[in-house]
Amino acid sequence: MQIHIVKSPELAAEAAATLIAAAILENPDLVLGLPTGSSPLGAYRALIRMHREGLLDFSKVATYNLDEYVGLDGTHEQSYRRFMDENLFEHVNIPRENTHVPSGVGPDPERNARDYEAAILSAGGIDLQFMGIGRNGHIGFNEPSDSFADKTAVIALSPSTVEANKRFFASADDVPKTAVSMGVGTILRARRALLLATGRDKAEAIRGMVNGPVTPMLPASALRFHPNCVAILDEAAASLL
Ligand code: GLP
Repeated sequence: MQIHIVKSPELAAEAAATLIAAAILENPDLVLGLPTGSSPLGAYRALIRMHREGLLDFSKVATYNLDEYVGLDGTHEQSYRRFMDENLFEHVNIPRENTHVPSGVGPDPERNARDYEAAILSAGGIDLQFMGIGRNGHIGFNEPSDSFADKTAVIALSPSTVEANKRFFASADDVPKTAVSMGVGTILRARRALLLATGRDKAEAIRGMVNGPVTPMLPASALRFHPNCVAILDEAAASLL
């Protein structure tokens, strides 16, 4: 794993956006895996700026998001589909049909998960997977557990994740308790991986990811087995390394 430490969250966002922009310039048909959460917002703003300046063309890019809450359709204000529309897709020239977010609705979420994994495969796999990290070391919604999930699956959220995400909902009771998420295997099969973490509240997870054992109890530690993974950290997130 290549680790880059920069002074501020703003610089970390610029660095992540620069890597993504370079990948799109190299390969206009890039298959790009994307995260939600607060971590990627600065990078999304930078990508939008580069698009507006005429530097970046998203017309052939295809995107696959890491995860979606079960039970929220794409119009729900906390759905990850809506998050992506509002924070990136509506501001760049990506055709809507090229943007993919797992479906959290319908009678059979397990089937949605299988279909999503198949769609990634038929797109030729992910070229570059961008992601954040949860405070407990989760990636996508792969929570600490006894084993690494290989493929996209329905995953139960841990109490600490429900707690961390309740800030976006009226109360913890309103936070969905399950999600459809790419598996750790799905993420590791991406040809390149890019993790962005900023802030002191990620420092423990980053220490575990970089220096602890590779264990499903800290899912991001699996990235140490990825042959082409870059972690961009600000000084606060790197403060326990
Ligand atoms: C969520 C998402 C993850 C994200 C994590 C951290 O639960 N499923 O993909 O990395 O939380 O979020 P944030 O960037 O807001 O700290």
